[in-house]
Amino acid sequence: MINDYYTGKTVLITGGAQGIGLGMVQAFADAGAKVILTDADEEAGKEAVERLQKEKKKVAFIRCDVSQEHEVIKLMEIAGVKYGKLDALINNAGIADPFTGNLQNMLLSEFDRMLAVNLRGPLLCAKYALPLLKAAEQPAILNITSTRAFMSEPDTFAYTASKGGLEALTHSLAVSLAEDKIRVNAIAPGWIETGEWQKKSEQYLPKHSKQDREQHPVGRVGKPEDIAAAALFLCSDQAGFITGQSIKIDGGMTIKMIYV
Ligand SMILES: NC(=O)c1ccc[n+]([C@@H]2O[C@H](COP(=O)([O-])OP(=O)(O)OC[C@H]3O[C@@H](n4cnc5c(N)ncnc54)[C@H](O)[C@@H]3O)[C@@H](O)[C@H]2O)c1
Repeated sequence: MINDYYTGKTVLITGGAQGIGLGMVQAFADAGAKVILTDADEEAGKEAVERLQKEKKKVAFIRCDVSQEHEVIKLMEIAGVKYGKLDALINNAGIADPFTGNLQNMLLSEFDRMLAVNLRGPLLCAKYALPLLKAAEQPAILNITSTRAFMSEPDTFAYTASKGGLEALTHSLAVSLAEDKIRVNAIAPGWIETGEWQKKSEQYLPKHSKQDREQHPVGRVGKPEDIAAAALFLCSDQAGFITGQSIKIDGGMTIKMIYV
């Protein structure tokens, strides 16, 4: 049973204060894990942890911008002192807006920032979490990429490149860390609605048109819970024979052939 697996386990989720990350924090905490929720947004992090602690969940917030090496080092030091090991690292933090303007007008500083957060961030977290992951019995890393790693709308160069890079980093880490018995996988989400999972000042009630829903073969837009369910599985011993893989969770959007 997955629910039994997480009792006594420690899971670190980056970008865990809002959106898909917060959905995963909730799911892992509900499953009995001790969760370190880390995020660059202090207001959102404190708000999330306060709510979860009222529900008696074992959740702690540590502020960290994953693109900053010294902040990631500090994060893992604190995690080490507090828990001594990490059973799972979930690299979820990301700049989620994919549009950066057309090629001529796109600012290189925006491209660099996107790669620093979405690609360098997961690498830094994996690098400095390594001693803590090695201290766990069946450690796992999970990277949250995007279906945009495999297909594009126009003018999304930075985001698409960052997520394509993270897909490649997933199999590279999986092969490199195999000797440490660390499994590394990815989830590539499609359209996931996060309106109700934002901090209070930015929450909104999602409204989806019939077309929004029906362009998905499953007939609806995704929810953070859809990603969390797969994350619970991939980081558990039930996925012990799965490494270096990426699962698209997109309601079937990427398998649909379109003729106009
Ligand atoms: N929502 C979607 O439709 C969708 C689809 C595909 C992939 N994704 C990916 O899923 C992940 C979560 O997306 P979301 O939609 O929940 O976004 P979100 O904006 O709701 O949440 C992202 C969280 O990451 C935090 N964050 C941003 N930059 C950070 C940094 N430098 N250091 C630490 N924390 C930082 C934010 O403060 C925020 O709390 C992202 O990696 C995103 O690219 C989302």
